[in-house]
Amino acid sequence: MAGIQPEIAVAAIPSDERVWVPQAPDVWFRPLLLNTVSGGWCNLLRVRKSGILSRHRHPMAVVGYVIKGRWRYLEHDWIAEEGSFVYEPPGEVHTLTVPEDCAEMITFFNIQGAMIYLDEQGRQNGYEDVWTKIEMCRAHYASCGLGAGHVEHYIR
Ligand SMILES: [Fe+2]
Repeated sequence: MAGIQPEIAVAAIPSDERVWVPQAPDVWFRPLLLNTVSGGWCNLLRVRKSGILSRHRHPMAVVGYVIKGRWRYLEHDWIAEEGSFVYEPPGEVHTLTVPEDCAEMITFFNIQGAMIYLDEQGRQNGYEDVWTKIEMCRAHYASCGLGAGHVEHYIR
């Protein structure tokens, strides 16, 4: 039917390393779907360091699936292991941490709405939404040689 977006069936872990967008030192995300209609995104998060990554809250639901490695939230006693499904309820505040014995973790996340980053006192010190993700992708793809327009592959 006219107007329906094309379907996608691609390797989630890309063969071209440049598709991974640097998020922080030793942290990358791989965009899969940047949803500008309802606001949100699907990506892989790849971390090759241990310790605290971020403290954040979500105004909307997040689900995830651990592809490789393991991680936890300081606020909970469970560990998201390889193969785990994770559900994060709207409103929850948590602190993502990768254990020292994990050389690499890769997790698929479907994030609705936004990530709201918090300092240790719980004050907002940053945020991400589909538009900030698109801008990060655009800047990285422009500088790595794929071209800024590469991000269009993921925008819906
Ligand atoms: Fe989260």
